[in-house]
Amino acid sequence: MIRKIQNQFTIGDVARMAGIDSRVLRTWEERGEIPEARRNGSNHRVYSFDEARSIVRLSAGDQHRRIAIVNQKGGVGKTTTTFSLAGALAARGRKVLAIDLDPQANLSASLGIELEDQDSSIEDVFVNDDFAAADAVRTTRFPGLYCLPARPRLAGVEIKIFDAFLRETILDRKLTPLHDEYDFILIDCPPNLSLVTVNALVSCQEALVPIEAQTYSIKAISDLTNTVALIRSRLDRGIALRFLPTKIDGRMKVAGEILDAIRGGLKNRVLPSIRTDANLVRCPMLRAPAAFAFPASKGARDYDRIAALLVQEQGPPAVDA
Ligand SMILES: Nc1ncnc2c1ncn2[C@@H]1O[C@H](COP(=O)(O)OP(=O)(O)OP(=O)(O)O)[C@@H](O)[C@H]1O
Ligand SMILES: [Mg+2]
Repeated sequence: MIRKIQNQFTIGDVARMAGIDSRVLRTWEERGEIPEARRNGSNHRVYSFDEARSIVRLSAGDQHRRIAIVNQKGGVGKTTTTFSLAGALAARGRKVLAIDLDPQANLSASLGIELEDQDSSIEDVFVNDDFAAADAVRTTRFPGLYCLPARPRLAGVEIKIFDAFLRETILDRKLTPLHDEYDFILIDCPPNLSLVTVNALVSCQEALVPIEAQTYSIKAISDLTNTVALIRSRLDRGIALRFLPTKIDGRMKVAGEILDAIRGGLKNRVLPSIRTDANLVRCPMLRAPAAFAFPASKGARDYDRIAALLVQEQGPPAVDA
């Protein structure tokens, strides 16, 4: 007997095929990114096979990008960017792993992850040779969004890995088995250029550097650029650096002037800015990224613009871009 070939797919079918939440599909439909589903004889909303296939391909995107969110200056918006961008990408149907490399563990807490003593964390990934990174990955309440959490003990990791063999590439080796698993891996770095931060850079093809106009420092950017150049020359890893102005207050004339100067210096490597938005400050307490907590807010829209840009690129930018 020949099995009946399915030629109509419900929204639920397509969502499952694409590995995304059906709510995501409805949002895409509203935005006109995919065709509107038709009603079949039993009044179910369905897609044809070709439509279903194109949606699945749209959602899969086959990118597998790894992005370090880095700046040794404190308080510039690294964690906010990792958290909000991870949320924006997941809301767009991507499978995202947010890795917390900061002993402050703000990112983990913002995603609602509180570790018990026996729970594993990124520290185990660094210090135990036999420990697989996948074993520390946690789900979150949000479809498509996963977290590899940190705990305060991470502060001691620097010392523990100082004498390790190939110590700059520990994280890179540990993350390799996860590359195909996620569309995006985002790494929130601590506010320094330590060995842990170098491990993050080495494991990524690109880095996003949040910069705050008020605290912008040419020295900090040149130190970071030098570190990236060293990684390239000594370890043969090219990392595409791009800058993300954060906490931009349109009413402050001086912020605009500094921003112009930054754009003048860094040219096409500066991404569209993130405006100051109190909703972004509230999100960690609500344990939900802006895309889910306040989808219509300035902050959510600004980060969604960056997510849209990344998704459209279909791959990391050229290293010298
Ligand atoms: N666009 C924004 N609008 C308003 N507040 C923001 C924005 N971005 C970040 N903040 C706030 O600025 C503070 C510092 O942000 P965040 O913690 O993301 O910086 P960080 O670079 O991760 O800091 P650290 O170096 O300590 O890890 C936080 O209180 C955060 O809520
Ligand atoms: Mg932080």
